[in-house]
Amino acid sequence: MLDLFESQWLGGSVHLKNRIVMPPMTRTRTSDGDIPNALMATYYGQRATAGLIVAEVADVAPSSNGYARTPGIYNEAQVAGWRLVTDAVHRRGGTIFSQIWHVGRMAHPSLMPDGEAPWGVTEAQAVNSDVFAHDAEGKLGYMRAGKPRQLETQEVSALIGTFAQAFANARQAGFDGVELHAANGYLFEQFLNSVLNTRTDRYGGGTVENRTRFLLEAIDAAVRELGPGRVGVRLSPFGYFNSMPEDPQAEETLLFLAQELGRRGVAYMHIVYELMPVGNMESAEFKKMHVDHAVLARVRSAFPGKIIWCGGFVSREQAQEALDTGLVDLIAFGRPYIANPDLAERLRQGWPLAVADRSSYYTRRGELGFTDFPAYEADSAAA
Ligand SMILES: Cc1cc2nc3c(=O)[nH]c(=O)nc-3n(C[C@H](O)[C@H](O)[C@H](O)COP(=O)(O)O)c2cc1C
Repeated sequence: MLDLFESQWLGGSVHLKNRIVMPPMTRTRTSDGDIPNALMATYYGQRATAGLIVAEVADVAPSSNGYARTPGIYNEAQVAGWRLVTDAVHRRGGTIFSQIWHVGRMAHPSLMPDGEAPWGVTEAQAVNSDVFAHDAEGKLGYMRAGKPRQLETQEVSALIGTFAQAFANARQAGFDGVELHAANGYLFEQFLNSVLNTRTDRYGGGTVENRTRFLLEAIDAAVRELGPGRVGVRLSPFGYFNSMPEDPQAEETLLFLAQELGRRGVAYMHIVYELMPVGNMESAEFKKMHVDHAVLARVRSAFPGKIIWCGGFVSREQAQEALDTGLVDLIAFGRPYIANPDLAERLRQGWPLAVADRSSYYTRRGELGFTDFPAYEADSAAA
């Protein structure tokens, strides 16, 4: 039987001290220029007792900026900022991966270089989904994603080079590995969805080989840079966040990916489980969704690497129940990590969990609601 607190080999030379994952959570505390900073280093360092931290998602290029104040990983200043973060985590014995994305159509001209249209798998707009961008007066707020332009075939291939550079940057910044964000309606998932992806080129949605090609080429680039044991991928096969149409081929795509990722020796598949985000980032609300365990069992058989589930886990018992299904190796606790820097110890000891105020999830109020949550022991001593 798997135990939440036993150490776990992830892949390559990466060993985790427990099966607890802090999943990626955007906190919009970057410095101007989308640069990670010392405050973020403190925040991640405080949470280094997780087996694995996956840092908040990082933009692969300026064209990927769908939400103001998310960090980038495409220039030297950003790499130097991330170095502060990885050093802080490593000093405390932790392991940290970088989650890397391109938002694709989930963007807005006000954030795009030269105000150009967002980049899309096709020209189909995400009509019911918001991004955090500038209005006509330059004020930041939530507004509908812009009308995308369809990427040319050679632009898609060129993006692989952009990702390769970001993976090299992640390594230079001291990350232990990378996670490709292929979930929640962003560019990779836009390609994976056979309904949205009506392209007819080699990246087109008509066949499973073609619709997974963009993601798998990016995975290959990551494997070349870091080795397979330092590469993971996040998927949301049951979700439809960001106006993703329901996809009758979702299961075929997922199983094909499981096989192909396994063939490449990829370290882990990180599955967005049971909870799907609704509304925009600010609302930070989640809806229960149906997750088919029979499908997850097939994924398990097809993929020899590790599997992470994330969504709605708030207790040791619940995590143990999931581990006991035999379908999963690591459990991610998202929102609980916001207010409980010492979550691993709290779960182990059965100490109560603090709850964060949602209004502080994404703000620029610096340490408020970010680094000011005490560890339980320190907290009780003060009381
Ligand atoms: C404040 C906040 C920021 C998030 N940012 C990201 C992100 O950058 N990348 C991502 O893949 N998911 C992101 N998510 C989703 C979480 O990783 C996770 O899937 C979700 O919170 C559900 O898990 P939980 O119930 O354990 O919180 C975010 C969630 C929250 C609450």
